[in-house]
Parts: sequence; C-alpha cells; structure tokens
Amino acid sequence: MPSNKLFARYPFYEQAFQAPEYHIRNYTRIFKEVFKKPLRSLREDFAGTLWFSTEWVRSAPDRSAIAVEIDPVPIEYGRQTHLATLDAEQQKRLKILERDVRVVTNPKVQVVSAGNESCLLLTKREELKDYFRAAYRSLTDDGLMILEVEGGPASAIILQDREHFLKDNKPWFTSVWDQQDFDPITNVGRFAVHFEFPDGKVMKNAFVYQARIWTIADLKELAEEAGFSDVYVYWEHCIDEVWMGDYMRIDIAPPVDEGWSCYVVAVKGKSRIKKSKRPIKYRIPARYKK
Ligand SMILES: C[S@@+](CC[C@H](N)C(=O)[O-])C[C@H]1O[C@@H](n2cnc3c(N)ncnc32)[C@H](O)[C@@H]1O
Repeated sequence: MPSNKLFARYPFYEQAFQAPEYHIRNYTRIFKEVFKKPLRSLREDFAGTLWFSTEWVRSAPDRSAIAVEIDPVPIEYGRQTHLATLDAEQQKRLKILERDVRVVTNPKVQVVSAGNESCLLLTKREELKDYFRAAYRSLTDDGLMILEVEGGPASAIILQDREHFLKDNKPWFTSVWDQQDFDPITNVGRFAVHFEFPDGKVMKNAFVYQARIWTIADLKELAEEAGFSDVYVYWEHCIDEVWMGDYMRIDIAPPVDEGWSCYVVAVKGKSRIKKSKRPIKYRIPARYKK
C-alpha cells in the first residue's frame, strides 16, 4: 500500500464515489447504439487515481486508454495502487498525461469522458468551450464526448448528506457530502467531502471543489457551438431514492423533486440512431417495477 500521507483519502473517495464497472458497461452500450460498432479506445479526463482507465484496459485485450489529470498526487497513487495490478502488456495500452484537460491528444480516441461531474469544475463559459473544442479535436471521425453530470434544486442549497460504508459487515467510514456555499448569481458553489470514522477521527475537507451547476441546456448548446452534431441525454434511473447506475436515452425528462443525474452525450460524426417520430419520454423500465 502506498505510504504517502496525501494518499490516505483516496481509498475512501473511490469507495464512496466511483464504480468503474457501470461506466464500462454503459459507454460500451451507448457507443454501439450511436455508431453500431464496438468501442475500443477512450480518453478519461479529470482521471484522478486512474481507476477507471485501468479497469478499461483490463476489461478486454483490444482496449486502450489515455488518462488526463492535472494533479501529480492522485496520478502517483493510481500508478502504485491500480496501474501496478496490470501486467506489462496491459500497461502499454494505458497512456498517462499529467496535463490540463484542455489539451488535444493523439492518437485520436472514440470516446472522451468526464466522470463524476468533473466538467462542472470548469466554471467559466470560455473554459468549458475550450475543453469541448479540445475534446472534439481529440476524437476520431465517429466519436462521443460523454459527460456525467448532476443538478437540480438540491444542488443549489446548503446541505449535508451522509452515507455509511461497511467492511466485513462492520462500520468502516461515513462519507459526508457538504454543500457549504452556493451563489445563485454565478451558479458556483463550494462542495466539500469529509470522512468520519468509528473511532471518532475525522478527515475534514478531504476534498474541496469549486463547481458550477451547469444546466443540461447550457452543456448542449456549448457542445453544439464546439462542433458536435447531435447531443443526447441519457437519464439515470433513480428507484426508491437509489441511483441505479443505469441510463435511458430521453428527450423529455420526468419532474424532479430534488436532483437529477445523467450523461450528456455529444456526437462527432453521423449518429446511426434513427430520429423517433415523437420525443422520447422518461418511463420506469419494467425491470424496476414491483
Ligand atoms: C472530482 S475528481 C474526479 C476523479 C475521478 N475521475 C472520478 O470520476 O471520481 C476531479 C479531478 O480532476 C482534476 N482536475 C481538475 N481540473 C482539471 C483540469 N483542468 N485538467 C485536468 N485535471 C483536472 C482534479 O485534480 C481531480 O483529480
């Protein structure tokens, strides 16, 4: 296990906020739906500890990834914790770049992705548009930019939300999502994460983000301005207040009490999805009906 003190927070972050297997499954399905061909190469932006990219290259021998992250600390944690679990051939299929995401990369990839609301860290319109332009230019002729985003009334207020995690059926830690500040004029807030432990210790402000709660309409418009031809919304199912990690392409969203979560999927090239005669309305799939 890495010994650097700065590394201590990452295992709790990964457990509380990441699930690479969902995104591997969803990106593969969405790419197939849009272009009728398999997804092999992707770029993970805001890559943090490289966990998603590592699992992507592990998931099949013809898959490759470029991970782009500006902070050397999570990259080093990722090298020691995740990259080290790949064999030499798998490691060759993962390129790590310590760079700002507003960079054009080569070789071109089929998907550029930003997980966990990370694109909301770009709070100025020009910054986000520069990012979308760089993503567009880094994609192959048939390519997708996939942004995982959240929003809704609950994102725009001061609140704390606690989630408890177990290990071997015993309390392990509590993750506290702390919305400390929100300015409705700029739509920018300060969002922090603390970790609490059964022995009373607290890792306060383990992560702190300044983020803008962009609307889906803004993201769509900016993606179109950056050159993308279509923009789809894949809505995450939330059943009995549990986010399912499972998404449906829709044109008309359901009413939202507190929050929503979706992928904004911007298309470079020609989508093979046929335009439906009527806009697609959200519905709860039969598999979730009791
Ligand atoms: C919310 S974390 C996301 C970590 C992980 N990829 C996930 O899905 O949970 C955001 C990460 O983006 C990085 N980051 C922030 N701004 C960036 C930029 N302009 N270019 C590259 N990385 C950036 C931060 O250092 C941080 O590791």
